[in-house]
Amino acid sequence: MKSALIIVFLMALGTAQDAWKAPPEADKLKNPLVGKEEAIKGGKKIFATMCAICHGEKGKGDGIAGAALNPKPTNFTNTAFHSQSDGAIFWKITEGRAPMAAYKATLSEEKRWQLVSYIRTLKQ
Ligand code: HEC
Repeated sequence: MKSALIIVFLMALGTAQDAWKAPPEADKLKNPLVGKEEAIKGGKKIFATMCAICHGEKGKGDGIAGAALNPKPTNFTNTAFHSQSDGAIFWKITEGRAPMAAYKATLSEEKRWQLVSYIRTLKQ
């Protein structure tokens, strides 16, 4: 009985931070740049200068500044990541969650959608 309690306690410790979920209303946001080649190119440039340091040059979550972070920067080549809507990804870039900053003030809506368009191309 006692050991069962200890196991439950350890499991709780292991999931200290919940998976990051955007609110349902984020799914209603539609990417106005969907299918635009220029948007992908623009997003790629912003990603290289602002996001690759943590998320890695190819978006694999292996950037140098991400190594010591908890939770780890997301690997955007992972299929599970892509099961969420464009709106949810946009919302997360907008709002941020520690240790990732919010980009509401630093990147225009258009730039944030460009990033969404680019990140979508990283799926493997
Ligand atoms: C300081 C390091 C850092 C930088 C710079 C950074 N991120 Fe992140 N990012 C993270 C971490 C860590 C997470 C995981 C957060 C979590 O799971 O709570 C994350 C998560 C995300 C997610 C959500 C992933 C999911 O699981 O749904 C998106 C989208 C994202 N980042 C996009 C970006 C974009 C776009 C940029 C550049 C504008 C960027 N990030 C810059 C560290 C960073």
